[in-house]
Amino acid sequence: MEKHTKVCVTGGSSFLGSWLIKKLLQKGYTVHATLRNLADPVKSGLLKGLPNADTLLRLFEADIYNADEFGRAIQGCHYVIHMATPLQHDPSKGTQFKDTSEAAVAGIKSIVQSCNRSGTVKRLIYTASVVAASPLKEDGTGFKDLADESCWTPLKVPFKYSIDSSTAYVHSKTLSEKEVFTHSSEIEIVSIACGLVGGDTLVSPMPQSMGMLISQPTKNMMSYQMLRFLEELLGKVPFLHIEDVCEAHIFCIEHPSINGIFLCASSYLITSAEIAGHFQENHPDINLRKEFVENSRRTITWGSTKLTDVGFEYKFNAKMILEDTLKYAQKIGEFDPSFKGFN
Ligand SMILES: NC(=O)c1ccc[n+]([C@@H]2O[C@H](COP(=O)([O-])OP(=O)(O)OC[C@H]3O[C@@H](n4cnc5c(N)ncnc54)[C@H](OP(=O)(O)O)[C@@H]3O)[C@@H](O)[C@H]2O)c1
Repeated sequence: MEKHTKVCVTGGSSFLGSWLIKKLLQKGYTVHATLRNLADPVKSGLLKGLPNADTLLRLFEADIYNADEFGRAIQGCHYVIHMATPLQHDPSKGTQFKDTSEAAVAGIKSIVQSCNRSGTVKRLIYTASVVAASPLKEDGTGFKDLADESCWTPLKVPFKYSIDSSTAYVHSKTLSEKEVFTHSSEIEIVSIACGLVGGDTLVSPMPQSMGMLISQPTKNMMSYQMLRFLEELLGKVPFLHIEDVCEAHIFCIEHPSINGIFLCASSYLITSAEIAGHFQENHPDINLRKEFVENSRRTITWGSTKLTDVGFEYKFNAKMILEDTLKYAQKIGEFDPSFKGFN
C-alpha cells in the first residue's frame, strides 16, 4: 500500500526531515521532498543518496517566503508533513514580512490552501515544538502547576536566558501552530509538538538540539545557555530520540483517523542538572565544570499521554537518548580538548 501512498515532506534536508525521509523510503512510500535550493549539492545529495531514492523520491524547490511554491510538491500527495521553518529572517526575499513569524504564518496559510485544493491530501501533519506550550503564567509570575497540550506560551513576557533568535523561534512556532488550527478544512490536521531531539543524525554539522543535550560534557557554553533557556521557558527539559520523532510522524500517517495537538517527548520531567548527573554518574572520565550545572529545583509537572493513549509507543528512554547523542558527538570529535575519552 505504501508504494501508492505519496507523502510530501517540507524542509526535507533538515535534521528531522532527512531522517524521516530515510524511514519513509525504507517503508516504500513515495516522497515529495522540498528544499530551498535544489542546486545545493550537499543537501540534494544527502537525500538522493538514500536507499530507494532513485525510484521513490522526487525533489522540489520551495521557499516559505514564496509559499505558493509548495503547491507543486503537495499536488497528488495523500499526506503532507510540514517541517520547514524559517530560522533567520531574510528581508531581501519578502519585504511583505517583518520577521520569521509573519513568513512562517503566511507559509502555513498557503500550505493549508494547497492541501485543500489538491483533492488528494487526507491529512496535514505539522511538526510543532514544545516551545509553543510553555506553562509560564501570562503575567510572568512563575509557572502553572501542570503543562500539557492545553498550554500556549505567553508571548508578552520576557524569557530568561533568551537571545533574539530564540525569542523569534518561540514566537514563530507558537503563532504558526495556532495558525494551523484557525482554518476550517476538510482534511485532518495534526500537530506533533516535539521536545528537544537527540540521538543520531544524517546532517552535518551536528544539529543545535543535539548540541544542547550534550552541552555539559562538551563544555559548549552557547549550547548550554540554550538548554537553560529551554528549561526556564518550560520548567523542565522535555526530550526524545530522532527515531521516536520519525516513528511518531509515521504513526500519524498510518492512523486511520487522527487530528489535534499531541505533545511528543519520551522524557518530560528531567532538569538540566539531572542531565549533568546522568553524565557524571555514567562517565566518571567527564569532568563537568560547575558553571555547567545549575539546579532549578522546580516542582512543575510536565507531560502528556495523549499520543500513547491513541497507541503510539516510545522506544527510547532518557538514558538511551543521552547516550546515543554522546556517542555521536564522540564519533565526530565534538569534545573539548581536555576531554580524555570514556572508560
Ligand atoms: N530539532 C529539534 O529539536 C526540534 C524540536 C521540536 C520541533 N522541531 C521542528 O522540526 C522541524 C525541523 O527542525 P530541524 O531541527 O530538523 O531543522 P534544521 O535542521 O535546522 O533545518 C531547518 C529546515 O527549515 C528549512 N527552512 C529554513 N528557512 C526556510 C525557508 N525560508 N523556506 C523553506 N524552508 C526553510 C531548511 O531548508 P533548507 O534545507 O532548504 O535550507 C531546513 O530544511 C522544524 O519545524 C522545527 O521547528 C525541531
